[in-house]
Amino acid sequence: MGKDVIIACDFSSAAETLDFLSKFSGRKPFVKIGMELFYAEGPEIVRQIKAMGHKIFLDLKLHDIPNTVKKSMSVLSRLDVDMTNLHAAGTVRMMEAAIEGLTRPDGTRPLLIAVTQLTSTDQESMEKDLLIKEPIADVVMHYAHNAKLAGLDGVVCSPLEAGKVHDTCGAGFLTVTPGVRFAGGDVGDQKRVMTPAEAKKIGSDYIVVGRPITAAEDPVAAYERCVAEFVD
Ligand code: C5P
Repeated sequence: MGKDVIIACDFSSAAETLDFLSKFSGRKPFVKIGMELFYAEGPEIVRQIKAMGHKIFLDLKLHDIPNTVKKSMSVLSRLDVDMTNLHAAGTVRMMEAAIEGLTRPDGTRPLLIAVTQLTSTDQESMEKDLLIKEPIADVVMHYAHNAKLAGLDGVVCSPLEAGKVHDTCGAGFLTVTPGVRFAGGDVGDQKRVMTPAEAKKIGSDYIVVGRPITAAEDPVAAYERCVAEFVD
């Protein structure tokens, strides 16, 4: 599985998204479709972007009872996405059910990765709201370990956690890391950031990059810069 740059297409309409992707003539970047675009436009936008030749990470973060997740994953596998995800907090049983649902009759399936603790959750909110008293770094690694046990392919994590995840779960367990910024670039609301070159060094398998590309004056040049730093 090769390293790649995934562009977070955080747009709220098909028109905006297709206009953005039309700038990449000849290039077919791996794109992330999240809840905003999916809820606005439905599965058709996934089919459309897939038909244009892009790989798709469908970021819907499923979390429900195992049976519901299994059936929903089965629907998503028919959309022919390349990667999708769920919350590890749904338990090992839910993750196993997700794999079952996602696996096509021919045995193939999209990559399935887990969200451990959201990066918006900190030690204090985890203790107060969720009554989880362990150190958050241990919770993240425990959830990653559970994802591995259930047969998932990897986790979404901070680039700062990627090395530890590989140490805990093996080099082949994928780390998909958002929070990437160019050196000297605008950090926005991300707190702990890394450059694409640093993410490469620390062993991220995929970087998810939104605004540094989507809000750039020249998005194609910004994408190429990410690829040059992270992949080449
Ligand atoms: O614009 P930016 O590069 O910050 O976009 C990062 C993308 O990764 C967004 O789609 C965001 O929702 C997602 N993400 C994140 N942090 C996480 C999980 C997902 O920034 N922990």
